[in-house]
Amino acid sequence: MATAADAPLHLEMDGIEKSLRGTSVLRGAELHVRRGTTAVVLGPSGAGKSVLLRHAVGLLRPDAGTVRLDGRRIDDLPERELNAVRLRIGVVFQGAALFDSMDVAANVAFPLEAIGIGPGSERDDRVHRALRTVGLADRGAAMPVELSGGQRKRVAIARAIVLEPEIVFYDEPTTGLDPPRADLVNRLIVRLRDERGVTGIVVTHDLASAFAVADRMTMLTDGRTIFAGTPDELRHAPDPRVQAFLHAQATPEELDAIRGERTP
Ligand SMILES: Nc1ncnc2c1ncn2[C@@H]1O[C@H](COP(=O)(O)OP(=O)(O)OP(=O)(O)O)[C@@H](O)[C@H]1O
Ligand SMILES: [Mg+2]
Repeated sequence: MATAADAPLHLEMDGIEKSLRGTSVLRGAELHVRRGTTAVVLGPSGAGKSVLLRHAVGLLRPDAGTVRLDGRRIDDLPERELNAVRLRIGVVFQGAALFDSMDVAANVAFPLEAIGIGPGSERDDRVHRALRTVGLADRGAAMPVELSGGQRKRVAIARAIVLEPEIVFYDEPTTGLDPPRADLVNRLIVRLRDERGVTGIVVTHDLASAFAVADRMTMLTDGRTIFAGTPDELRHAPDPRVQAFLHAQATPEELDAIRGERTP
């Protein structure tokens, strides 16, 4: 297996700027991820983590900056070529985002339909393999409402890996799960890296999960990358915003803001 230090860069995002509805959301964010490694993107709510991920899959285009996959720019590709790129990337959306009217197997099969693999034995095999990977081989006929939160997350992971992508994005994969269920998801992320060489990008504010899966960590605040390094370097980073985040404390600026509201 490649190690964090010597594998080639798989995803490179540099100087990403993006305004949405007149508000500047990303202001020069960057993210570099080596092949076969897991990068964690940390940062407070509203920092721009999900918006950054949307740029990496070509769902948004940056106002400025570049996105490269295997050294090749994808931010300026025409839509048709972007579709081919998207097939190489699996996404586990924030909140699982299952289709509630479809059973588990149909949810997992959805990306297969998109590439023309309709009902039949190949589709069934692939769905079964993906569900087996996440430990839910016997739940194909269940409806999403019948599942626990942890099972729903695992179905979302099965759907993300059914096309056997090189890269998987996990947006808040453990949010809302109890610690043992979160542990299961963390182990799945590590296993996909170790056994299939998947490059993983995990967005989370669950620190236990972050340290359980990360080879490298990036921290985003106000649309800017304020830290990139190893988990150990993060623990010892001198930046007070990093330390405030790690120790679950509001920053002085945030405290000022609520003081301002109490005494106008
Ligand atoms: N489509 C949109 N239109 C306008 N503003 C948006 C849009 N999507 C996100 N934003 C804004 O961009 C900022 C960053 O949002 P984003 O969802 O990336 O945050 P996040 O870091 O993922 O937060 P969380 O941890 O809560 O998921 C927020 O202020 C949000 O309101
Ligand atoms: Mg988000």
